[in-house]
Amino acid sequence: MNPSPANPVVRLDDVHVALSSGSGAVTILSDITLSIATGETVAIIGPSGSGKSTLLALIGGLERPSRGTVAVAGQDFAVLDQDGLARFRRDHIGIIFQSFHLIPAMTALENVAIPLDLLGRRDGIARAREGLAAVGLAHRGGHYPAQLSGGEQQRVALARAIIANPPLLLADEPTGNLDGVTGAQIIDLLFAGNARLGSTLILVTHDPDLAARCERVISLADGRIVADTRAIRTRVG
Ligand SMILES: Nc1ncnc2c1ncn2[C@@H]1O[C@H](COP(=O)(O)OP(=O)(O)OP(=O)(O)O)[C@@H](O)[C@H]1O
Ligand SMILES: [Mg+2]
Repeated sequence: MNPSPANPVVRLDDVHVALSSGSGAVTILSDITLSIATGETVAIIGPSGSGKSTLLALIGGLERPSRGTVAVAGQDFAVLDQDGLARFRRDHIGIIFQSFHLIPAMTALENVAIPLDLLGRRDGIARAREGLAAVGLAHRGGHYPAQLSGGEQQRVALARAIIANPPLLLADEPTGNLDGVTGAQIIDLLFAGNARLGSTLILVTHDPDLAARCERVISLADGRIVADTRAIRTRVG
């Protein structure tokens, strides 16, 4: 097992998640104790249904544990209400969801500008133009999500997640809908904040090449951590 880092940006202690379904309570995550250091790049892997998205949702403060504690940047999420969690996310966390979560009534450009608008910045649209250009979508700014392909929506979601340079970036299958060439460009963008600003990157992926680019790989099976390994090499790329 890995030693706990001195200044973890993410800390989960004995976390369990159980949800009620038609046939009673279902355990989704069990016994999750985990520390992630500032600046680490971490891949979460595991079979479909093993709890990867749920783990990411806990770290993003979108799901609450049934038991145990979740803290990000020293902030225990249990003491925050929904508004407090939303403010904390706005200031600390960028999230790329598996299903994108773009706002249907907003154009691509407006979607990307949301984090800066929420921060009260006046340069949201101008910066969003640059952000869309960086993901190869300068020509799609006026399109609504329904007018974009899956891979284009995914790239808009990425541009939105990184536009405010969050210290913690969470990405759920960020290359799931992309071809090889576009995927490689997007992966470089995902890691850019880590290389440039020392931000922490936690991503869920089924892609072995993407997992191999991370310094640490955490494997889930049936809602439990079954492996947690650090690469014995210096970072590449
Ligand atoms: N709201 C819910 N109510 C009941 N069960 C749920 C709920 N959300 C998720 N689950 C179940 O929890 C388990 C873990 O789901 P999760 O989405 O975290 O898996 P995953 O590892 O991300 O899978 P995938 O690779 O398919 O995205 C699954 O069995 C899922 O059916
Ligand atoms: Mg998932």
